[in-house]
Amino acid sequence: PPLPLIMCLLCFLPYAENLLVLTVATKQTEGFRRFRRSAQFFNYKVQVLGLDEEWKGGDDKKPAGGGQKVRLLKTALKQYADDADLIILFIESYDVLFASGPTELLKKFKQAKSKVVFSAENYIYPDRKLEAKYPQVRDGKRFLGSGGFIGYAPNLKKLVEEWKGQDDDSDQLFYTNVFLDPEKRENINISLDHRSRIFQNLNGALDEVVLKFENARVRARNLLYDTLPVVIHGNGPTKLQLNYLGNYIPQIWTFETGCTVCDEGLQSLTVILIGIFIEQPTPFLSQFFSRLRKLHYPKQRIQLFIHNHEEHHLMQVDSFVKEHGKEYLAIKVIGPDDEMENAEARNLGMDLCRKDPDCDYYFSLDAEVVLKNTETLRILIEQNKLVIAPLVSRHEKLWSNFWGALSPDGYYARSEDYVDIVQRRRVGLWNVPYISSVYMVKASTLRSELDQGDLFHSGKLDADMAFCHNVRNQVNSHRNMRPGNKFGHILSLENYQTNHLHNDLWQIFSNPEDWREKYIHENYTAALKGKLVEMPCPDVYWFPIFTDTACDELVEEMEHYGKWSTGDNTDSRIQGGYENVPTIDIHMNQIGFEREWYKFLLDYIAPITEKLYPGYYTKFELAFVVRYKPDEQPSLMPHHDASTFTINIALNRVGIDYEGGGCRFLRYNCSIRAPRKGWTLMHPGRLTHYHEGLPTTKGTRYIAVSFLDP
Ligand SMILES: *[C@@H]1O[C@H](CO)[C@@H](O)[C@H](O)[C@H]1NC(C)=O
Ligand SMILES: *[C@@H]1O[C@H](CO)[C@@H](O)[C@H](O)[C@H]1NC(C)=O
Ligand SMILES: *[C@@H]1O[C@H](CO)[C@@H](O)[C@H](O)[C@H]1NC(C)=O
Repeated sequence: PPLPLIMCLLCFLPYAENLLVLTVATKQTEGFRRFRRSAQFFNYKVQVLGLDEEWKGGDDKKPAGGGQKVRLLKTALKQYADDADLIILFIESYDVLFASGPTELLKKFKQAKSKVVFSAENYIYPDRKLEAKYPQVRDGKRFLGSGGFIGYAPNLKKLVEEWKGQDDDSDQLFYTNVFLDPEKRENINISLDHRSRIFQNLNGALDEVVLKFENARVRARNLLYDTLPVVIHGNGPTKLQLNYLGNYIPQIWTFETGCTVCDEGLQSLTVILIGIFIEQPTPFLSQFFSRLRKLHYPKQRIQLFIHNHEEHHLMQVDSFVKEHGKEYLAIKVIGPDDEMENAEARNLGMDLCRKDPDCDYYFSLDAEVVLKNTETLRILIEQNKLVIAPLVSRHEKLWSNFWGALSPDGYYARSEDYVDIVQRRRVGLWNVPYISSVYMVKASTLRSELDQGDLFHSGKLDADMAFCHNVRNQVNSHRNMRPGNKFGHILSLENYQTNHLHNDLWQIFSNPEDWREKYIHENYTAALKGKLVEMPCPDVYWFPIFTDTACDELVEEMEHYGKWSTGDNTDSRIQGGYENVPTIDIHMNQIGFEREWYKFLLDYIAPITEKLYPGYYTKFELAFVVRYKPDEQPSLMPHHDASTFTINIALNRVGIDYEGGGCRFLRYNCSIRAPRKGWTLMHPGRLTHYHEGLPTTKGTRYIAVSFLDP
């Protein structure tokens, strides 16, 4: 993209000589940093007043206050008052953005033909009784807003000359009184920016403003007056809307992906506390732990806090802690017996980091997040944000871990750009009102802005919403990012049942991608492309299909069920004439796995059948797991299968789990004596491929068999 070049060109432009931006900021909040980035983007010369001074100007929730700003301005103006050509823009900074540069600002100021121009508002405050004294306007906003004004230095000096108020007196009232005094108004030569040519106050004016996307440029436009304001002020209850605009103007988000403190401090020193939350039965938990271990970050710099609310997952958590707990700097587990609720556990996890002076970052990770990017921790730290979340969504769904907007009652609302962001058509770092499931918080923020212990309760809101509500109030920053990175996705928990031994096997419908990753052989794709498909006997194909885990879990599931058919001919299936030769087996439908197995055949076997035996569509008749044992049923006499094709998947390992075994095709006098675990044989059933199961001489052999018919 051409943008970095544009940014650099701007770096060499001189400042507009006769323009100075003055602002008051006692703290460098996130909002202030955003303001400063937008000023840098357009090359404004900014002087910050009152930095690190104690704020005594009152609470911004009260209408009055702000007098401290007038005092600071009055002091600062002393040094500039003699410069008759100097134009000074005085604005707020915590909730202000520049949408254009100094040239446009100066042009518009001069067109206003006044020495001082104030922003204008639809609302009158703090004193409604003053309304009658306001001059009438034909078109535009009638009332003065003290959040932004621009004027010549000597005129501004005159404006604040008479200030003798206290720091917590109202600046708004002071400027209003000056303006409403006709003599002063004329003398200082003050007008209001009625039509938002320079200043756009968003309070009470949200409907007037839209974002216009044009090529690479984004600009906020006032539709009511058809103007392009230069300064956008998210005053009053419009912080969220300003955040939204701030995601785009002036393409600030391209700055935000940049890295300022990448290398320093990241080395071996930074300690992260990862809070892991297993709040409900969650599939693929052992994969979750193995991904956790693969995160590319020194384990001796990671502390783990695990909250497991589910009895069902006790074993998996225990075995992870036993096998790998020691690799980490520290580990603490809260189990189901501790009866700790979600919000309480999340508070506790954060608090552990907050209270540990060595902790630098808190990383919250819910068990349903499939975090595939092993660099996630490093990438998030590099963004250097107080609160930040990687974007994860459900596979091919619009469901994600962030909201683009809030409804008036504080619940989900879809923002205009939500779909584009989830589908990754817009890339960047976004200020959003709600995140969940996975996010990082700076420990220093937990000790300052977010130091109230109970972030996860707020009225009747659920824990995530309460957290976001509190963060929005305290930090004005809540982010969600994708600087070209893919982080992973979120599992669907909707149809997870826990009544089987290996419940993940049943997840082929709900979480097909994760199912595939766990159960389908890594070389299956090659087999699908025709590579790696062997032909050990005429018309008998042999290719990899299952992972070891799939084989093991299927066998264990069958043994767990345990009702093996006895092999006598009373079995209804045999009376029905499906099976020519009885075997010791358990059918997929006996363990309630029929639907899932057919889906597996359809998704993974059918594409290969249709390639190898073109012209056949695949329909499935029977599916079962066969057990061969020397003292039970060691072999199977020669027979035809009642199928057009048969697949026969070896579920364990010859030489280790059993000896002997294999399959012989009599007509071709051809045997496969060393079946490979996880590989399937596929051969014609009726007619040509009369075959027998060779004797298993030791141990137990398992195969999964399916009959396929056209
Ligand atoms: C400001 O001064 C200009 C002339 O310099 C005049 O036209 C204008 O009316 C004055 N405005 C006010 C509000 O006095
Ligand atoms: C997949 O194929 C490659 C190349 O033939 C081989 O090295 C690898 O071991 C195979 N993977 C498995 C799990 O068998
Ligand atoms: C089958 O093959 C084996 C060797 O693979 C051979 O010893 C045997 O004689 C063959 N049987 C027939 C009937 O051709």
